[in-house]
Amino acid sequence: GTTWTQEIVDLIQNEGDVDLTQRAPTHVSFPFIEWIIPSIGSGLEQANAMPSPRTLKTHLPFQLLPPSFLERNCQIIYVARNPKDNLVSYYHFHRMNKPLPHSTVWARFCQRTALAGHLEISLGQHFHTLHHTQRCFHLRTVYSVHQDMYLNPKHEIWKLGEFIGKKLDGSVLGKIVHHTSFDVMKQNPMANCSAVPAEVTDRSVSPFMRKGAVGDWKNHFIVAQNERFDEDYQRRMAGTSLIFHFQF
Ligand SMILES: *[C@@H]1O[C@H](CO)[C@@H](O)[C@H](O)[C@H]1NC(C)=O
Repeated sequence: GTTWTQEIVDLIQNEGDVDLTQRAPTHVSFPFIEWIIPSIGSGLEQANAMPSPRTLKTHLPFQLLPPSFLERNCQIIYVARNPKDNLVSYYHFHRMNKPLPHSTVWARFCQRTALAGHLEISLGQHFHTLHHTQRCFHLRTVYSVHQDMYLNPKHEIWKLGEFIGKKLDGSVLGKIVHHTSFDVMKQNPMANCSAVPAEVTDRSVSPFMRKGAVGDWKNHFIVAQNERFDEDYQRRMAGTSLIFHFQF
C-alpha cells in the first residue's frame, strides 16, 4: 500500500508524466527516513541532501515522528489498511525480506504478532493507526485507505490530488489509474522492488507485489484466529474514527 501510494503521489506531482516517475526507483525518489541499508545508504542522509519541498516515506508511529513534521505543519498522507489483510501481507513480506526475523509458519506469525500484541519490529504496527487518528486530527492529514483505493481508484486519486494541490483533469486521472493498477505496477522496474538488492528482498520466495487484492485474509485466518483477532481488535481499536470493511 505504501509503494502504491508513493507511485500515485509521484504521478500526481508530475501531472501524469510517466517518464518523469521512471527517473529512479521508489526508494531513491522518496527517502525512507528510518532506513539504513549498507548497500543502499541512509534514508535520512538522502533526505537531508534533497531540496524542499520533499516527499518522504516513514513507517514510524506518531510518537516517533521527527517533531519538525508537526512544527512545520507538514502534509501527511497516512496509508491505512484493513488489519487482517495487512497482517497477511506483512507475513509474506517477512518471508521474503531477509533482514526481518523469519516466521515461515502462518499460525506462529499470527500468534506472535497480532494476537500477542507484539510485533517483531515496529514496522507495520497496525495499532498505531489508533494513535494517529486520535492525535493527528488537527494536522494536515489525509487517509489513503487501501480498500477504497482498490474499489474506487479514480475517486481516491482525485482526492489525493486535491490534498496535494493539483487539479487533475479526466485524462490525467485516467492515466494515473492505469499506471498504478496492480498489473502495470508489477511490471514497473522502478516500483516493483527489482532495484532493491537480493540480499534484502528475496523475490524467489514471494514477490514484492504479491496479489494487490482485498479480502485475502480469508485464505489465511482459521476461525479461532479470526475470533481472537476480532476480540483483540475491538478492545484495542475502540475510539478510532477509521472504519475498515472486512467483507468484500
Ligand atoms: C519488475 O519489472 C521488470 C521490468 O518490467 C520485470 O522484468 C520483472 O519481472 C518485474 N519483477 C517482478 C517481481 O514482477
